[in-house]
Amino acid sequence: MTAEKLCELAKEAMQHAYAPYSGFKVGAALLCKDGTVYQGCNIENAAYGPTNCGERTAFFKAVYDGKREFEAIAVCGGKDGVITGSFPPCGVCRQVMREFCKDDFVIYMMNPHGYEAVTLAELLPFSFSASEHMGI
Ligand code: THU
Repeated sequence: MTAEKLCELAKEAMQHAYAPYSGFKVGAALLCKDGTVYQGCNIENAAYGPTNCGERTAFFKAVYDGKREFEAIAVCGGKDGVITGSFPPCGVCRQVMREFCKDDFVIYMMNPHGYEAVTLAELLPFSFSASEHMGI
């Protein structure tokens, strides 16, 4: 699975976004260590708070299916589904990534021309984790 293909799958996932409040559609494609890919989109809510980000939708689908080891995630988004720039995953999503991923997990933040790759260690330094602090 190339980064380019993963990005394509994230773009496809963005079409599934339910974002009637912000209009900001997000798509994600999560690559498991076994090569399978889980797609996710943001799912908003009239009460705002229950909104689920695209990244977490992908993670939760995968974890439900028994996946626990992950390689990378591609993320894209934009107003009305038009990608005008990249954006870094929100803090809640970073913490969910931390639960299952090591420092070298890669996040491809997509932009109109391609993507920028960063690691989880770069996005979430000094983090609280199951492995280091909870003995799991
Ligand atoms: N959103 C995501 O799906 N992922 C992020 O990392 C940042 C924000 C969604 C939440 C909401 O539906 C919309 O983008 C605007 O914040």
